[in-house]
Amino acid sequence: MSASSQSANADQPSFLERNQFLIYRLFSLAGLVPVGAFLVVHLLTNASVLGGPEVFQSRVDMIHSLGPLLPVVEWAFIFLPMIFHAAVGMAIIAGGLPNVGSYPYSGNIRYTLQRVTGMIAFAFILWHIWQLHAMGKPLGGGAFDPHHAASTASAALRPMAVAVLYAIGVLSAVYHLSNGLWSLGVTWGIWTSPAAMRRASWLSVAVGVALGAAGLGGLAGMRMVDVDEARAVEGRMAEARELLEGKVAPQAADASGVSDPAH
Ligand code: HEM
Repeated sequence: MSASSQSANADQPSFLERNQFLIYRLFSLAGLVPVGAFLVVHLLTNASVLGGPEVFQSRVDMIHSLGPLLPVVEWAFIFLPMIFHAAVGMAIIAGGLPNVGSYPYSGNIRYTLQRVTGMIAFAFILWHIWQLHAMGKPLGGGAFDPHHAASTASAALRPMAVAVLYAIGVLSAVYHLSNGLWSLGVTWGIWTSPAAMRRASWLSVAVGVALGAAGLGGLAGMRMVDVDEARAVEGRMAEARELLEGKVAPQAADASGVSDPAH
């Protein structure tokens, strides 16, 4: 390659630079839907454990009723959009993609925290998936059993060090989403004047406080579960489900106590 064609190549904008506008818009949108929306649903589902292990189990059963479609839905609507958002976020942090649109006052503390919490959330999510999701099983994780939802989650979250790391991870994700809502409004031109931006900051605070309460409430609720009692409730619910699905004959269910309310 001649020296002149080499310098011409060096002058060529990269793929990221050429498609900067579109990539940034898709990155921003993915942070809201589906990733942000999923975070809200996920934290509220977990907080349902405050109503008792049976409430949480019924939410988990609803999700798992998707059966073989569940991994497809997870990859299409959660993992792939999150990988895309995280990859572009890393590129922005590394300086490969300027943050067009957001943060008119770069250098402020919220701007820095947005990046720091994105990186903490990334590390936390990887660890969380390894620890609880079935995908972590081959690597010694995957402790969550969807048929014994509250009892297995509770046991996994019992060590104090784990609970502290969860609190940090959950609060980082919550800050990142709530503050991200504000910068998203700037990106898409929803709030443009300083007064509108100030009002939008209050929206961020309200969302952050509500989601933070749901996240920490769910975490505390999981740790307060009586594991033996939860296992008994979950066992009865699993038997009742199998009975409904016709997997167990009614006599066998009777013998195991499904129809006995005193059991
Ligand atoms: C819990 C999962 C996550 C959610 C719900 C989420 C959501 C959001 C939202 C809504 C925004 C605002 C977009 C905008 O300003 O237009 C944002 C920005 C950002 N996200 Fe995430 N995100 C998540 C995870 C991550 C991860 C894992 C990273 C990787 C480190 C990351 C890096 C970033 C960065 C760097 C920004 C700011 C971009 C800028 O400076 O303009 N995010 N995120």
